[in-house]
Amino acid sequence: MGESMRRVAPGPRGLEVLQFLGLGTFENTLHFLRAQARKHGPVTSFRILGRTLYLLDDPELLRQVLVVQQHSFTRPVGTQLLRDITGLNLATTDEPLHRERRRLLQPAFARQAIAAYGGVMAHEARRFAAECFDGQLLDIGAAMARLTLNVASRTLFGGGVDPDAYAMSQALARAMHAVSRVGPILEAVPPSIAGACRRLSFGANVEFRRARTALRASVQRLIERNRGIAETNGGGVLSIVLAASGDDAAVGDELCALLFAGHETTATALTWAWYLLASHPTVEATLHEELDAVLGERDPTVDDIANLPFTTAVFNETLRLYPSAPVFGRRVLEDCELCGYRISGGSGIIISPFVSQRNARYFPAPECFVPARWQQPTWPDFAYVPFGGGARRCIGEPFARMEGVMVLATLARRYRFARIERGRVGIASAMLRPARPIVVRAIARDTSTRRYVSVKGESLTGRAAFRDRQGMAGAAR
Ligand code: HEM
Repeated sequence: MGESMRRVAPGPRGLEVLQFLGLGTFENTLHFLRAQARKHGPVTSFRILGRTLYLLDDPELLRQVLVVQQHSFTRPVGTQLLRDITGLNLATTDEPLHRERRRLLQPAFARQAIAAYGGVMAHEARRFAAECFDGQLLDIGAAMARLTLNVASRTLFGGGVDPDAYAMSQALARAMHAVSRVGPILEAVPPSIAGACRRLSFGANVEFRRARTALRASVQRLIERNRGIAETNGGGVLSIVLAASGDDAAVGDELCALLFAGHETTATALTWAWYLLASHPTVEATLHEELDAVLGERDPTVDDIANLPFTTAVFNETLRLYPSAPVFGRRVLEDCELCGYRISGGSGIIISPFVSQRNARYFPAPECFVPARWQQPTWPDFAYVPFGGGARRCIGEPFARMEGVMVLATLARRYRFARIERGRVGIASAMLRPARPIVVRAIARDTSTRRYVSVKGESLTGRAAFRDRQGMAGAAR
C-alpha cells in the first residue's frame, strides 16, 4: 500500500459531527455538509461511534462510486427503513435481485410508454388549469402533490384517479414521517446497533405500524380492483408488472416503491420551480415569451416538449438548486481506494446532489437561479446528478422530466403564481419539503393579447406587467 493510501481524509471531529445526525433542522444538516465540502474538498470524513462516513464532492469520484467501482458498494444501511415500509422492491433490493426487478420494470419506462403517460400528464395539467381561477389563493406545494398523485395514480394503476392511491400516499407519508428522524442515525452507527435502533423505534411506534397496515390494505384492494383492467393491458405500469409477475405481494411492493419514489419527488421539484419563478420576474418573462411563441393559444402536447428548451432549463435548474433527493448513499462492501484514500469495507459513502450541484467550480454563482446556464452546459458529467447514476440511476427520470416540463408549460402558459408573502422559505425534510406552505395567488394570463388579467379586472401589458407585479414576488432565491 503506497504512502498516500494511508492518509486519513480530513473532516470534522467530536461534537461537531453531531450536526450530521440531523440534530437541528434538515436544512442545517445540508448546509453543514456543504460547508464541510467547501472546507475539505473532494473527500470529507466523519467518524462516529467507530464508523466512518465519507462525503464525496467531485464528479470523478461520483463516477467511480456510481459506475466504475459500483460493485464495491451497495445500498446504505438506512435502506432497511424503506424496506420496512414499502417491502422488497426495485429501490430496496440488492444485486442480483435488483437487476432482475429492473429488467421487469424497464418496459414500463421505455420511450413509448413515457410518451403515453405524457398524454395523461397533459390531461391532468389541463384539468388543474381549468379548475384554477384568477385571484385564487393556493398552497402550491399541496396543489402540486395532488396533481402529481393524480398522474401517478392514472399511469401506475391505469383507469381513473383511484381513492386508494390517496390512502396509500397518506399512509406512506405518515410512515416516513414516523421514522424519518431515525434515518441519519442508522447511517452513522455500526450495522448491529442500527438494527437494534430500527427494531426499537418501529416496535414502539404505533403510528408507524398503523400506517404500514393501512398501506398494505390499500395496495391489496388496488391490485384486486385493477387486475381486470390490467389484464386487458389498459392498466398502465400495473399491467406490465402483473403480466410479468403473478405474485400479488411482489406487485404490491413494486407499486409502493413507485408511488413513494414517483409522486412526491416531482411535486417538490415543481413546488420549488414556482417559488423560484415567483422570485425571478426576468426568468418568468423569458419563460412566458417561449411559451407564447411556441404554443400561442393552445396547450402543449408531448410533441412540443423538444421545442421548449427554456421551460426544460427552468426544470433542470430547479433540480440543481433543489434536488428532490438531496442526499443518498452507499455502503462500502470491500476495501477500495478513492482519491488516494483507503476506504475500508463497512464505511458509508454520502453523495449529495444538494452539495455537489452548488459547487462554484462547476456552477458559477452557484446560489443563483440561472436557467440560461443550460444553453451551453460547461460542467463535466456527474457534476449534476439529481437522478443519480449507474445501475441504480432513477428509473423514473424520463417520467419526471416529461411531467415537470408538461406541467410547467401548461400552467405557466395560462397563469403566473405570485407569492403573497415575502421572504425565503427553508427546507424541512429529507424529501426537500418546504419548511412552511408556499401560498401563491393565481394571476390569469390572457395569451391572445399577452396581457395579465388582474384580480381587480384591470389588465397590464407585457413587460410593464412584470415590473408592476415584482412587488408581489418574494425576494428570496
Ligand atoms: C424529480 C423527480 C425525481 C428525482 C429527483 C429522483 C431521484 C432519484 C435518485 C437520486 C435515485 C437514485 C438513488 C440511489 O442511487 O441511491 C432514484 C432512484 C429511483 N427512482 Fe427516482 N427520482 C425522481 C422521480 C422518480 C419517479 C417519477 C419515479 C417513478 C415513477 C422514480 C422511481 C425511482 C426508483 C424505482 C428508483 C430506484 C432505482 C433503482 O435502484 O434501480 N423516481 N431517484
